[in-house]
Amino acid sequence: MKQEKLESKALELFQRQDFDIEKLEETKFKASNEETEIEIRVLSYEEFGDEEALEKIGEDEKLFIDEGLENIQEKIENDLSILEEDKEKDLEIPSYERIGDIVVISELDGISEEEAVEAVLEHNPGLDSILLKQENLSGEFRVGGYRNLYGEKTETVHREHGVRLKVDPTKMFFSEREGTERKRIFESVNDDDRVLVMFAGAGPFPVTIAKHSKASVVGVEKNPEAVKFARENIEMNSVGDKVEILQGDVREVCPTLGKFDHVLMPSPTNALDFTGEALECTEDGGRLVVYSVEEKDNLYRPVIKKVREEASEKGLDVEVLEKRVTADFSPSKRKVAVEFRVEE
Ligand SMILES: C[S@@+](CC[C@H](N)C(=O)[O-])C[C@H]1O[C@@H](n2cnc3c(N)ncnc32)[C@H](O)[C@@H]1O
Repeated sequence: MKQEKLESKALELFQRQDFDIEKLEETKFKASNEETEIEIRVLSYEEFGDEEALEKIGEDEKLFIDEGLENIQEKIENDLSILEEDKEKDLEIPSYERIGDIVVISELDGISEEEAVEAVLEHNPGLDSILLKQENLSGEFRVGGYRNLYGEKTETVHREHGVRLKVDPTKMFFSEREGTERKRIFESVNDDDRVLVMFAGAGPFPVTIAKHSKASVVGVEKNPEAVKFARENIEMNSVGDKVEILQGDVREVCPTLGKFDHVLMPSPTNALDFTGEALECTEDGGRLVVYSVEEKDNLYRPVIKKVREEASEKGLDVEVLEKRVTADFSPSKRKVAVEFRVEE
């Protein structure tokens, strides 16, 4: 099995059991919930031979491997029992994302539509719908084309980190796989802070930040459908006193908003085009968080270079505070976050 597919299966398995997932490095993940924290090494036979795989495995890591690597199980002490049991059950399921009561399948991976529906329903009893992606996410709004394989609904309420988010993947972008990144962000915001969320979508960042702090949050989003859902989500989570969503292009709206302690740019395919606007909105000493899609062997340099150049043109200093991979994008590309302190 391809490394990417095996990783999706491993992550789905843990996410379904309500673990937060964080990618620590290539092939290595941290799964955590309130009680426990597990490091998982995911290795596919298509990418790693027995010897290579054995060299990669750290002492306390749990393994998630595919059938071709079964010989190495005898040579290691790690407890494989939970993972093995689930791995067996999961083999005939295409990789998918569960959003509320809807499952979105990106590719059938050689399985028939009927088999996919049966397998997904077996693991997700009570689902409203199963959607199969027909066209990749595209355009400024990052929305794909979908066909219902099961059920009629395309709208659902997704629960994460104590909030409810109404979304419709056929009308706006939403990914539950970025929930771990949202948690990281709301945990680093203080009560008195002002936060700007450019590219707010249906509001997952603004709503989770407002729910977990007393910070005041402004979101800017161009897709009218996403704005409508974001406003409903604000009401549904009773955070209307702390969050406002403005409809429009960040290029036009953000320059009218003043300065913020945190400026977030969660639109990895085009955020860098708006670096200038984001820098102008960041308070002296504030934090700018840039998301971008980058080649896996050159993850951060293009982002840092672009932000440094734009800052220097504006007479600002930037210091890199943190950088991390937030999700896979394609076999050769990753979504990354780079955090900067901006100083005048
Ligand atoms: C990848 S989605 C992320 C949405 C949201 N941040 C989330 O995490 O679910 C990017 C969002 O940016 C919006 N967008 C793209 N270009 C924009 C622009 N110039 N001004 C405002 N919003 C924009 C799109 O409509 C889309 O909702």
